[in-house]
Amino acid sequence: MDATGPARWTKKDLIGIRELSRAEIEIILDTAPQFLAVSQRASGIKKVPLLQGRLVVNWFHEPSTRTRTSFELAAKRLSADTLSMTASSSSTVKGETLHDTLANIEAMSTDIIVLRHGCAGAPHILAADHASHIINAGDGRHEHPTQALLDAFTMREAMRHLHKDHARGLDGVKVALIGDIEHSRVARSNIHALTKLGAQVTVCGPATLLPRGIERFGVTSTTDLREALKGADIIYALRIQLERQAKALFPSIREYVKLFRIDRDSLRYAPDHAIVMHPGPINRDLELSTEVADGPRSVILQQVTNGVAVRMAVMHLLANSGGPRVA
Ligand code: NCD
Repeated sequence: MDATGPARWTKKDLIGIRELSRAEIEIILDTAPQFLAVSQRASGIKKVPLLQGRLVVNWFHEPSTRTRTSFELAAKRLSADTLSMTASSSSTVKGETLHDTLANIEAMSTDIIVLRHGCAGAPHILAADHASHIINAGDGRHEHPTQALLDAFTMREAMRHLHKDHARGLDGVKVALIGDIEHSRVARSNIHALTKLGAQVTVCGPATLLPRGIERFGVTSTTDLREALKGADIIYALRIQLERQAKALFPSIREYVKLFRIDRDSLRYAPDHAIVMHPGPINRDLELSTEVADGPRSVILQQVTNGVAVRMAVMHLLANSGGPRVA
């Protein structure tokens, strides 16, 4: 064990990036390539038996396409049995508590529960009282750890490719997170991951969407897009979380587009090598122009591809070398 944490995975659950050490993040990132190779096998047989006989339950209380299908595919490629539950199909709508619902599912011998929930802290509460490995697939505005891990993996691959250095990490890499920082669990998890990995993070958006005191997380903040893009190696556009905003936090969509959209015009302020990322789903032409989203600098679909491999790595580590099942 070094000063930054154990060199071996020992945790039972994946609740947030905040709880992980740099070494633990690196274990996950270094485990993912073997699973990327499984998904890209020339034989077309995209499966390994590492979770054979285990049961993975995808339990989603909020809408999701990408994350849910990504977890489901990851579990299937590890040969696990999978079950999907949505809020409307589970008895929580009849008043059952999350604990009771989970206790009943666990009575059928589950191994991994992937939970997306609108309440920050829901996965944390379940993890403390239940034997299954809990993976947080997004809790309210709090964290979305596997998104940050697949993002860090994608950034690391891009930087390794750019510098032709296959051992390179993210130390000193400049990342600009643009848009709705306030409502974004993706921003929060990315800030934890990137600062732990040594990247220099700048957050940028309208003042109303930049949390007060965000600098204490080790990032620089600005409302000037030009300043944020200057010298950036990676530009990460966030989705405007229209569903989480209690009231309009910027004067008009037109104003936002003019000042903060990543498009051909604003990209002129960034270095030529800068890549563009987005967690999806994209509000096309609002935070990101279609031309850039589908253009040569975009690695958005690589993020999706890498997401399956990173989630396979997480499930494998939790189920095959994670901490004791009884919390
Ligand atoms: C993100 C989410 O749900 O937090 N999407 C995702 O998981 N792919 C980002 C978002 O909704 O903006």
